[in-house]
Amino acid sequence: MNQKAQYIFSVLTLMASAFGESSGENSDGVVPLDSPEIFKTQPFPDWLHAFTGLNAWPDENPPYIPLEFIDFENIVSDPRREFGTCPPDRSTCSFDCYKCISYDDAYTCPKLSQTFDDGPSPSTPKLLKALTHNTTFFTVGLNVVKYPEVYQQIQQKGHLLGLHTWSHKFLPSLSNEEIIAQFQWSIWAMNATGSHLPKWYRPPYGGIDNRVRSIARQFGMQAVLWDYDSFDWKLESVPPQRTESEIYSDVQKWRHKTWSPAGLILEHDGMPKTVNAGIEISKIIGPDQLTVAQCVGGIDYIRTF
Ligand SMILES: *[C@@H]1O[C@H](CO)[C@@H](O)[C@H](O)[C@H]1NC(C)=O
Ligand SMILES: *[C@@H]1O[C@H](CO)[C@@H](O)[C@H](O)[C@H]1NC(C)=O
Repeated sequence: MNQKAQYIFSVLTLMASAFGESSGENSDGVVPLDSPEIFKTQPFPDWLHAFTGLNAWPDENPPYIPLEFIDFENIVSDPRREFGTCPPDRSTCSFDCYKCISYDDAYTCPKLSQTFDDGPSPSTPKLLKALTHNTTFFTVGLNVVKYPEVYQQIQQKGHLLGLHTWSHKFLPSLSNEEIIAQFQWSIWAMNATGSHLPKWYRPPYGGIDNRVRSIARQFGMQAVLWDYDSFDWKLESVPPQRTESEIYSDVQKWRHKTWSPAGLILEHDGMPKTVNAGIEISKIIGPDQLTVAQCVGGIDYIRTF
């Protein structure tokens, strides 16, 4: 397992263990004890039962449900590739390998702005309490249905919610049907919990090519990448691969890069140390930040109900 995969594994394991607890403060006090509903799973909605015939949210391998608006003829045929491998052909426009950006990708911002992936998690409420500006959260569907109260807190505070797939898979390794399932189930989770259809998605690990984009576009969705990687998840590896002060000194460099600080920063709200770093970074940058939709002058959601 590589380091990032190991971090994701610990996020999911932490969530599985937190899920089983009725209460209990961790050393960081990040789980609000006044809200035991934090561990209530989002109910499976009637409209989704009517559409799928299913009765429960799927596991990390969600079933593909055919959708009438998806045209397989319009899916680009870039070859499948495993995590950590690169396509020899640069025309596939991979961001993870070649930092390639397509015409409709959002990847930067006129103001230096934070973004948070992998939540909602038991660590997220602490971040929400500390932030004094609106930011962007790219959520994992499995976590949305596991922590619906946290998701709704993010929404109520005025933050923008985007999609980070159903179960954090490396999308270029999946079949077309599996990629569709990763999108459709996380859209349904967000709609069941927040009554909206997301416009913006961030591909896990930045794993994207023109095949993934051609599927997402059929949902009306656009990819969001980043200028700067905080590598905050390395704080959680054992032993840590990165220190807080290394991260903060990078942020200072990004701030002073031009007379007007600009760009999107990749961070995570899945674990206590990444959340603590996010709070410190928000103090360094200050509240003059934008959501991804504001960065590009776009809409927040395709539709709200
Ligand atoms: C955050 O967004 C909400 C909803 O759009 C808005 O009411 C609020 O003023 C914003 N907060 C800040 C700090 O900009
Ligand atoms: C979204 O949720 C509403 C109910 O709030 C439902 O009527 C609608 O079919 C859902 N749409 C999708 C695409 O999930």
